[in-house]
Formats: sequence, C-alpha cells, structure tokens
Amino acid sequence: MLIFLIGFMGSGKTTLGRPLATRLGYRFVDLDREIEQGEGRTIGEIFSTDGEAAFRALEGAYLQRVIEQGGDAVVSTGGGTPCFGEHMAEMNRSGVTVYLKLAPAVLVNRLLSAHLQRPLVAGKSPEELLVYITETLAEREVYYRRANVVVADPSRDVRRLVEILNPHLVG
Ligand code: S3P
Repeated sequence: MLIFLIGFMGSGKTTLGRPLATRLGYRFVDLDREIEQGEGRTIGEIFSTDGEAAFRALEGAYLQRVIEQGGDAVVSTGGGTPCFGEHMAEMNRSGVTVYLKLAPAVLVNRLLSAHLQRPLVAGKSPEELLVYITETLAEREVYYRRANVVVADPSRDVRRLVEILNPHLVG
C-alpha cells in the first residue's frame, strides 16, 4: 500500500514520514530527494536553471515512477505535487492520501528556520512569508482537501498518526 503525505512546505511530510514508515515497516520515499538524486541537481538548481514548469514536469515523472514501483511505502511529496496535472487523482487511485493541515502562522514559524533551500520562499521576510503562505495555501487547499484523510495540527509524535491511519491500512 502506498501512503502519500501531502501538505504545504513545512507541514512535516518528511519529519513525520520517516518514522511513520519505520513504524509500519514500509519503505520511505521522499519525492524531492528522488528528483535530486535522479537528476544530480538540487531542487534550487533545477528551479534556477530550468524554471518551475520544468521542475513540475520532472515531479510528475518521478511521482509516476513511484506509483509504478508500488509496494508498501510512505511517500513524502513536495508541497506543490498534488496541485499540478492529475497528480491528486492519480495518488488517490493508487493509495491513501493524507493531508497534514497546519495554519499559515504555524507554517511561517517553521519555514523561517528552513526556507533557504526552498526556492519558492527563499529570501522572504516574515511578513512576506505570511502573505505568500496565506494566499498560496488558499489556492492549494482546493487540491489538498481531496485527500482521503485530513490530519489537523499533526503533532510531531507519530503514534497519533498511526492510530488515525490504522482503519485505512489494508493487507
Ligand atoms: C514546493 C515544495 C518543495 C519542493 C519545491 C516546490 C512547493 O517541497 O517540491 O521547492 O511548490 O510547495 P517541500 O514541501 O518538501 O518543501
């Protein structure tokens, strides 16, 4: 079974995904890291040399590859993955999608300490970051909301997530 963690940058997809995979005995896949390893470039380099559209095309191709590999895996997606092409429908068809939902003010705090590696938010002041997150999250929620499971204010403790997911795990 494939479990796709979706949500905004800083929502904890990777931080929670790794221990979740360990708990379940599943493989852990971080889509951004797969792209970086496969392409031999960082996400920042791909954005700055080829542009966002090229990055989105790569993101779609790597997502497809993960889906085709199948098996048991927790897949941490990029914040924009569900919002392009038919990605949300494809993920919903191939496994369970889990939206880690956090308020913009919480995301600002998390991203302030880790935004340099993220080209979409690098260089923004706290005020600019709050505006960007509030606006972008409003657009993206249309997609995120289609998740099979919505986890509001996920704690860093993975046990609660395992309990919430239990009824959705088959096989
Ligand atoms: C992006 C989020 C990033 C990465 C890229 C674009 C986005 O992933 O895919 O920088 O559009 O929100 P994380 O959500 O893991 O930071």
